[in-house]
Amino acid sequence: MELCVALDLPSAEENLALAESLKAHNIWMKVGFRAYIRDGKLLIQALKKINPEFKIFLDLKLYDIPNTMADAAEEITKLGVDMFNIHASAGKIAMKTVMERLSTYEKRPLVLAVTALTSFDEENFSFIYEKGIYEKAEQFAKMSHENGLDGVVCSTFESRAIKNATSEHFLTLCPGIRPFGEDAGDQQRVATLELAKAEGVDFPVIGRPIYRDVNPVGKVERILQVLS
Ligand code: C5P
Repeated sequence: MELCVALDLPSAEENLALAESLKAHNIWMKVGFRAYIRDGKLLIQALKKINPEFKIFLDLKLYDIPNTMADAAEEITKLGVDMFNIHASAGKIAMKTVMERLSTYEKRPLVLAVTALTSFDEENFSFIYEKGIYEKAEQFAKMSHENGLDGVVCSTFESRAIKNATSEHFLTLCPGIRPFGEDAGDQQRVATLELAKAEGVDFPVIGRPIYRDVNPVGKVERILQVLS
């Protein structure tokens, strides 16, 4: 299991200060909409400068026509990030087109597909996808696996079933983790770190429980202890 810290703070200075305080640990840093829209590739370069061993997950959840997605995937690859994601609901042609385009690169980032956002409850999810979360997440995961992606973004509660339906090596990245039972905020399907470990989650993504803690470094160290 590899910890991924969500850099969702309101300014580049605060995100970089958090990264600086965590530089002794070779962990993953998640750069999402807020940070990337505001700070762009300078943020990625600054993170790599703080610790060249930090791995970067660019969480932009691409969703567009296949060619546009492949163009974006190629630009993301040129940024030198280690992982990014697309929406599974963009479909299998989009998946194939993205993976084919990246196959020309000697070193490409890991590509994951978002199944069901962890902020969805059953009612709101089925209004859009006309299926239950569990069933649809598994279907999306199979499609992603068949089309050459490296893994999926899902909740802890689907991680085991997704691995059973695809492969033990098919990666699961799970937000909505409240390591020691902290406040859920807007997340609906939250799990503790112990549960994530038991369900075979590869990457627990943790934001607010770390950066809103009075001692983020201490919290990360407690988390890493559970993961080791
Ligand atoms: O603060 P919290 O730990 O809830 O942060 C979770 C992070 O994971 C946020 O950056 C959120 O955008 C992201 N995320 C998510 N659900 C997904 C995909 C990404 O919560 N399905």
